[in-house]
Amino acid sequence: MPTYSFTVNQQPVTVDAPADLAVLWVLRDQLGITGPKYGCGVNACKACTCLVNGKAETTCSIKVSAIQGKNITTIEGLANGDALHPVQQAWLDLDVPQCGFCQPGQIMAAVDLLTRTKNPTDADIDAIENMCRCGTYVRIRKAIRVAASKMP
Ligand code: FES
Ligand code: FES
Repeated sequence: MPTYSFTVNQQPVTVDAPADLAVLWVLRDQLGITGPKYGCGVNACKACTCLVNGKAETTCSIKVSAIQGKNITTIEGLANGDALHPVQQAWLDLDVPQCGFCQPGQIMAAVDLLTRTKNPTDADIDAIENMCRCGTYVRIRKAIRVAASKMP
């Protein structure tokens, strides 16, 4: 099988994988990184969202051959030691999750938004397409606003 090299949470990795294997399965099954979740596999639910070169992407829909040399950040790589990322801290402070399944993807999408937009409007927040079957959208919106005020 071909090998692919990239970084995950700032650690260089090389994996043996079929070229068309989804990055989600490389992360979960080969690297044991289970923050990104499988919900649909067809770029609809966004539970598998991670940052690829700093931009939110659905890893179920990216082939491993497309990430050669790129930098992946999963929720496991957001904190700086014991210091949570402002988005993670806001999620905790506002008790956002219900079942929790969608939340790693929600947080990564929020990080992407706040990296691009310091003071997002309601429309900017509503443009996040990550689904939450538990309906935590109101708390997500509040947490993004709190996190926005704490972003460096
Ligand atoms: S698993 Fe649903 S978008 Fe990736
Ligand atoms: S918290 Fe349950 S799916 Fe979002």
